[in-house]
Amino acid sequence: MVKVKICAGSHCSLVGALNILETLEELQKEYPDQIQIERVECLDKCEDIKKAPVVKVDDELITSAQNQIVISKVMERIK
Ligand code: FES
Repeated sequence: MVKVKICAGSHCSLVGALNILETLEELQKEYPDQIQIERVECLDKCEDIKKAPVVKVDDELITSAQNQIVISKVMERIK
């Protein structure tokens, strides 16, 4: 089970976190038993807006996260 925490706080939402969340939810439909998504309020990395959006895949913190990077990190762990 891959655990993904996605920051849906104000800074991260402003720069695309919800778009990543939607993409992850689509992926989760394909792998419902293997992906757990948790929406969190702030991962405490947004003091610098350039670090947003912030996503955590298991213990790996991804700053300036983009869809493709997050998806590939999740897929690496599923396969
Ligand atoms: S709002 Fe996302 S890390 Fe703070």
